[in-house]
Amino acid sequence: MEGVASGKALIAARAAAVAADVDHAFDLLLSVPADPRARLYEAMRHAAIGGGKRLRPLLVQAAGDLFNISRESVLRVGLAVECIHVYSLVHDDLPAMDDDDLRRGKPTIHKAFDEATAILAGDCLHDLAFEVLADEETHPDPFVRVELVKALALSSGPAGMAGGQMMDLVAENASFDLATVTRLQQLKTGALIGFCVDAAAIMARIPPEARVSLHGYARDIGLAFQIADDLLDVEGDADIAGKALGKDAAAGKETFVSLLGIERAREQARMLVDQAKAHLHGFGGEADLLRAIADYIVERDR
Ligand code: IPE
Ligand code: IPE
Ligand code: MG
Ligand code: MG
Ligand code: MG
Repeated sequence: MEGVASGKALIAARAAAVAADVDHAFDLLLSVPADPRARLYEAMRHAAIGGGKRLRPLLVQAAGDLFNISRESVLRVGLAVECIHVYSLVHDDLPAMDDDDLRRGKPTIHKAFDEATAILAGDCLHDLAFEVLADEETHPDPFVRVELVKALALSSGPAGMAGGQMMDLVAENASFDLATVTRLQQLKTGALIGFCVDAAAIMARIPPEARVSLHGYARDIGLAFQIADDLLDVEGDADIAGKALGKDAAAGKETFVSLLGIERAREQARMLVDQAKAHLHGFGGEADLLRAIADYIVERDR
């Protein structure tokens, strides 16, 4: 029990610091120009600054702890993945996709601005991710930077997040089995989470064959994260979540919860968290934040 309690304190302290760093970095990168593009920058700021759990930047930090990656490098890589995540949320909320009015407790971008601005703001956040990664300040070695760019591109595109979003749209008019839902979620959510952990290994120049246990950890927490999102959609509190809930069932989508039921879905998520932590057995205290994140992922209420 003590381990869980100290894990919570660790998450609370590190998450608050990461959130402040991410907000500050976005504030510097997105200063609003005094010309007709101001609206685009305002929309990007509305989407990117303030709110969100900043789980992905925290995960980059946690994986960075394993290899003593510099603070500047983990912050910039975390910022890049958060750019992709926020862009995916801006587009996910559009009327053509989930048609949502509320995100992170605020009006969605197409509500606060308009649809065309939301599309452009999403596009530009996507571009900003790669601008940040490609910059010398992210890592001194250009080969490492190219590998980071390639890994983020792969985890965002048709073989990653966007591919999962396509499957998610198809899910409205198909009845997917558990294996297909698992693949959908691995792409939609798991791929970017996997990037966060892999990025630290790339920066530390860990050879791919030595990343097996980290990949196992990332795969397990990625699935557990999405099961928790599906559970929150059914039994969460919309005020705490800061977004509309009950949408999956209304859209007729098969999810882990619709296929397994609430109890078995929760058990599955807990089992995945235990399995994720077991993958870290070869590490000591330097993996404590990764362990705490695994617990947090299924215990969260937003
Ligand atoms: C929500 O992600 C969308 C999914 C991938 C399920 P998060 O739950 O990480 O959202 P924020 O970043 O905290 O708003
Ligand atoms: C969106 O999944 C995931 C991405 C944006 C990649 P959901 O549609 O389930 O996310 P929420 O529930 O709106 O946050
Ligand atoms: Mg969606
Ligand atoms: Mg959605
Ligand atoms: Mg959801």
